[in-house]
Amino acid sequence: MDLSKKIREVQDFPKEGINFKDITTLLQDKDAFQYMVNKLAQELEDLEIDIVVGPESRGFLVGAPVAYKIGAGFVPVRKPGKLPHETMRYEYQLEYGSDVLEIHKDAIQPGQKVAILDDLLATGGTVLATAKLIEALGGEVVSINFLIELAFLKGRDVLKSYHVKTLVSYDA
Ligand code: PRP
Ligand code: MG
Repeated sequence: MDLSKKIREVQDFPKEGINFKDITTLLQDKDAFQYMVNKLAQELEDLEIDIVVGPESRGFLVGAPVAYKIGAGFVPVRKPGKLPHETMRYEYQLEYGSDVLEIHKDAIQPGQKVAILDDLLATGGTVLATAKLIEALGGEVVSINFLIELAFLKGRDVLKSYHVKTLVSYDA
């Protein structure tokens, strides 16, 4: 199946000049959704993943079903102030300003094998921050998997020390 045909492109959203990749059209299609989950799960076969981590919020949509499929646990990384128990936080720089992500301190045990799943690789900032949180807790990031890669933003360069795979890549 060509998943790119299931992803809707919306021009000038959320602002002018951005060609937004809308995954809701893929998720609502039962065959495409199942295909996506199975494909992502296949890439993690034989890696003995203990935990799938998904960054809020679209990482939940992709990560949780894949975790279920491979028989791993699921851990959310969230925007600040959302997680109720003790958290570890990581602040990272954006083009203008900064952003923060948090994880529960007891979410990952030292030595656990972790895969990060998210819908989209753009600059790589979100997932790099997620990887830093996992490593700070002693987890090993063995794979980072995305549905979509915006290759022209060169997020792979930021993630070059990791094993990165994507299903659909856009050059512009
Ligand atoms: C989007 C997307 C990725 C991230 C990619 O999330 O879902 O998580 O941006 O960008 P990056 O590679 O430059 O970090 P967003 O922050 O818009 O939030 P959402 O998932 O809650 O929609
Ligand atoms: Mg996101």
